[in-house]
Amino acid sequence: MSTAAVPTDYTNRVLYSEEAASFSPEVLAEMDAHIAKYPPDRKRSALIPLLLLVVQRERGYIDNAGVNFLAQKLELEVTDVWETATFYSMFNMRPVGRHHIQICKTLSCRVMGEPQITEHICNRLGIHVGETTPDERFTVSLVECLGSCGTAPMMQIGFDYHEDLTPEKVDKLLDSLE
Ligand code: FES
Repeated sequence: MSTAAVPTDYTNRVLYSEEAASFSPEVLAEMDAHIAKYPPDRKRSALIPLLLLVVQRERGYIDNAGVNFLAQKLELEVTDVWETATFYSMFNMRPVGRHHIQICKTLSCRVMGEPQITEHICNRLGIHVGETTPDERFTVSLVECLGSCGTAPMMQIGFDYHEDLTPEKVDKLLDSLE
């Protein structure tokens, strides 16, 4: 399976709405604990932890209603929240599988074999870049430099880095994931 001609569309296609998410009292308290780490007039500093540790965890990805909630909570414009959420590849703009495979596609990884690694992973999983396996176990994405250029080619799965990749290493790794 070739990955070359497949468009990689990472946009969130949810149309704008003013609906805001709701969270349990426990989750709201967790949010307040993060906000309390910053001065009262700097609560926007809690945006990244709240996006990652709360909204993405609770809702599976960064959705419109979660963004609306955070904008209200942190007294920000909705566009402020989207600007941050869409800048970092650690934020998912749509539902992903249990294991989100993010392969670095930037220069060092590219010249050290990223295309072969990407093709190997996609062939093995039977999906294209940007897709999720039917059993919802794996999603494959290409991302910009993950700051581990000296061990290219590399990829991130969840919070873990996997470096100096070869097809054999990839096979072992995928075999080990449930
Ligand atoms: S180019 Fe791949 S980690 Fe930097």
